[in-house]
Amino acid sequence: MARPRTVHRCSECGASAPRWAGRCVACGTWNSLVEEQPSAPPAAGATSARWGGEQAVPLVDVDVAGATPRPTGLAEFDRVLGGGLVPGSVTLLGGEPGVGKSTLLLQVLRALATGGARVLLVSAEESAQQVRLRAERLGDLPPTLLLLSGTDLAAAARAIVGLDPELVVIDSVQTLADASTAGVPGSVAQVRTCGDALVRLAKDRDVPLVLVSHVTKEGTLAGPRVLEHLVDTVLTVEGDRHHALRLLRAVKHRFGATGELGLFEMEDTGLRAVSDPYRFLLGDRRPGVPGSAVLPAVEGQRALLVELQALVAPAGPGATPRRSAQGLDPGRLALLLAVLDRRAGVAVGPVDVFASVVGGIRVAEPAADLALVLAVASACQQVPVPADLAAFGEVGLGGELRQVPHASRRLAEVARVGFHRALVPAFTPDGPPDVELVRVSSLHEAVQVALAPRLAGTAG
Ligand code: TYD
Ligand code: MG
Repeated sequence: MARPRTVHRCSECGASAPRWAGRCVACGTWNSLVEEQPSAPPAAGATSARWGGEQAVPLVDVDVAGATPRPTGLAEFDRVLGGGLVPGSVTLLGGEPGVGKSTLLLQVLRALATGGARVLLVSAEESAQQVRLRAERLGDLPPTLLLLSGTDLAAAARAIVGLDPELVVIDSVQTLADASTAGVPGSVAQVRTCGDALVRLAKDRDVPLVLVSHVTKEGTLAGPRVLEHLVDTVLTVEGDRHHALRLLRAVKHRFGATGELGLFEMEDTGLRAVSDPYRFLLGDRRPGVPGSAVLPAVEGQRALLVELQALVAPAGPGATPRRSAQGLDPGRLALLLAVLDRRAGVAVGPVDVFASVVGGIRVAEPAADLALVLAVASACQQVPVPADLAAFGEVGLGGELRQVPHASRRLAEVARVGFHRALVPAFTPDGPPDVELVRVSSLHEAVQVALAPRLAGTAG
């Protein structure tokens, strides 16, 4: 018999390749291919005679009562999920190490257990002592909050069957392993086997399951993309571990809307819902300082004003100018600097440019372009952007300003926070009456207008 051929699978996108290569041809990620043992051939008899008997039903008759979310008691978490966790649903909670995934889920488990529910935490990453010490920081520990510490999939499955809990959390799916599957914990084969088995168990037993999954920029652990197809809901926690603000959002949700944003603050006693994010985002802003611009960003369904900052400094003689982007895409920054240089006549070629988003959050939308280039231009020219002016719009390669989605939501937030003017692309529709729109059609015009003494002088 021919030796079964192994395949190599990309831990980022799940694509397979017949032999190892340094780079995945499907998604372009470097060093992401890992060897995987082939699966058994399909069972014999897979002919049409085997299939049959399944009845399709009218969609309108499908019972949806089972798909009703049940609140966990952690209000901000429930809100992001559209009410809570659906029995039998599987949720993947992703985020970088240290961002607060374990803490958040301990709080969810505690909230349910405080209401008398039996809940199970399978900790495959930390010892029982470590989990207890951490959990004690969050408050009293109800006796129905159960812990299984270990990395064996079978033991976890036995505990789920034996204890019949009302919520299961696996922390993390990348450290769990199935004894009969080849590969180290975290390999694509292991993650998929464990994920598959747990998803089936959750559906069978109608218990909500949350899988924690680390996301690393290097992609050394089996990527969550292998799991994304298996699960009903994907939640992400974002934030910078040196800052307190954390953003929780649903990026995939089979039971409700995506894009709802939950805001938390990391404290000594766990994560606390934040009612006023502007304490973090605009609280320390110093109006009148060059190199700062305010963007009404849209995160999910919600508009949030964030401050973008830039600092420019002469590059050393003969040195390649440095570009640093924190919370922003460095490629986008480089492109915008080129447009600023070529189309708006702001010479950024010979200077180091440092740009960042305040509050440790990340802004990825093209709508941020205008505020970012304004911050850079303001830093270059040492002229502050007026303190009550917000700006949004996409910048094209020709230096033109392009409209962006959710203009009315952005302008409503600009008004609510008390800014009086917004610099926007020419055809942006009117917003609330208390926000004056300054419409511009090119980056050149935007820089002229925003940094002109005339506009600065009318600041209210
Ligand atoms: P953790 O939940 O372990 O992150 P993850 O599971 O995503 O890796 O928490 C990370 C950080 O949060 C850790 O450095 C300690 C800090 N922390 C607090 O600041 N307050 C707390 O109450 C707890 C439990 C943790
Ligand atoms: Mg953790």
